[in-house]
Amino acid sequence: MMRRIIIAGNWKMNKTYSESEEFLSEMANFTETKDLKNVDVVICTPALYLKLATGFAAKSKIFIGAQNVSNFDFGAYTGEISAPMLKAIECSFCIIGHSERRKYFGDTDDLVNAKLKILQQNKIIPIVCIGETLEEREAGITEDVVVNQLEGAFRNITVNNDVVIAYEPVWAIGTGKTATPAQAQEIHSLIRSWLIENYNHEIAENMSILYGGSVKPDNIRELLIQPDIDGGLIGGASLDMGKMKEMINIAVEL
Ligand code: PGA
Repeated sequence: MMRRIIIAGNWKMNKTYSESEEFLSEMANFTETKDLKNVDVVICTPALYLKLATGFAAKSKIFIGAQNVSNFDFGAYTGEISAPMLKAIECSFCIIGHSERRKYFGDTDDLVNAKLKILQQNKIIPIVCIGETLEEREAGITEDVVVNQLEGAFRNITVNNDVVIAYEPVWAIGTGKTATPAQAQEIHSLIRSWLIENYNHEIAENMSILYGGSVKPDNIRELLIQPDIDGGLIGGASLDMGKMKEMINIAVEL
């Protein structure tokens, strides 16, 4: 099985309802008339627009992702959105462990682990984000940090082609600083080796490992041609229709 290339947009807390509608409609039309080969286009919208977005997905080739999920199934958890709720509106993916959630909302490895489990139970593909801060990179502990986050997120998890990993060095997110293709490849290869050791060759070979952190049309090609980089989790540039189309075109043509 050849692993999928995933071009995933993470809108974070951006766009109004009508801007979302306009974007999703145009993206649905764009992908509809295109041979996407082995590329999956995923748009992770704010929760409020997910139902609107999955409506467009149903009529086109795009997939929709959430940006967060509760670790509980249902109940008295004010403000939370559960995996069964996401499933019921046909949401296909969900980002978990994003560094912004870890930094501002206290998401820990244990919480990421619980969210991973609940997403799998509901047949939603988790996009598990890991990555080191600038201080950690400068202290030379990037590999330890990444392996610790993997161990935390995947504790007691069985994997069966139903998980995606995104390596996002925190210092490259929203900063305009991208890891060089070689820096990114080094960590992607480490992640793939970890998967071989902790699962097996087949699982490691089939899992898409995305890179995230200031990905844009200018640098996506160099990143995607690395042997272990299987797509991008894209913030800022994914808000722009022209840039998103350009990045999809580059991925399809590689
Ligand atoms: P960025 O964000 O592309 O704006 O750096 C990436 C992300 O946070 O997923």
